[in-house]
Amino acid sequence: MSFTISEDELLTLLPEIAEIGDPELRSGVVAIWLRTAQKCAWNRFEDVPKNLGSEKYRRLIDHVRGVTKMAIALAEIAEELHGTPYNRDYLLAAGLLHDVSKPLETEPDPAGEPTGGPALPGRKSEIGKKLQHAAYATHEVLAEGMPLDLASLVLTHTHDSNMRSRAIEASYLFYADYADSDAGILPTGQKAFVEVWKK
Ligand SMILES: [Fe+2]
Repeated sequence: MSFTISEDELLTLLPEIAEIGDPELRSGVVAIWLRTAQKCAWNRFEDVPKNLGSEKYRRLIDHVRGVTKMAIALAEIAEELHGTPYNRDYLLAAGLLHDVSKPLETEPDPAGEPTGGPALPGRKSEIGKKLQHAAYATHEVLAEGMPLDLASLVLTHTHDSNMRSRAIEASYLFYADYADSDAGILPTGQKAFVEVWKK
C-alpha cells in the first residue's frame, strides 16, 4: 500500500515547511515527504504513530511539528539573549525531516490493540527491522542532493546514532526531540527520556 498526497495537502499537515526561506531546501523537504507517502505502507500520514512504545497513541506529524517549533524557539531565545547564531533554514528542514523515515520504519498492524489515541496500531517494517532509525531519512536527504550538514543533523538526532554533531542546530534538535517526546510520555505514567540522566 501507499498513498499520494499533494504539496498543498502536505503543507496543511506540516505548515512549518512554508517557513523555509531557501526554495531548494523547501522543495527538497516536500519531495522527500511526498516520496515517503508513495513508498510507505500507510494510507495517510495522520495515522502513523510517533513510535511503537509508550507514545504509540500520538500522531507522528504532531511530534514532527512540536520538535520543529520547539527547536526554533530554543534557537530564537539563544540568539536574542546570547547572540548565538544559527542556520534557521537548516534547523527547520532538519526538524521537519528528522523522523521522515518513521512511516517507512513501521507499517499498519491490523490485528494490533487500539492505541488509545488518534494514531493507528503499527509494527516494525522490514526497513525498521534492518536499518538503524534515521539511516533511511539520511539517505533520502543525500539522494535529494541536499547539504551534507543537513544530512548530519538528521543522522545524529537520535541516541541510536554512534556519532554526535557539534553544530548548534544539532543541540536544539536533540533536546527539542526529547522534550516533545517527554510531553507525550509523562501523561502515560511511563518512563520519560529525562530520567535517563538521573544518577
Ligand atoms: Fe523525533
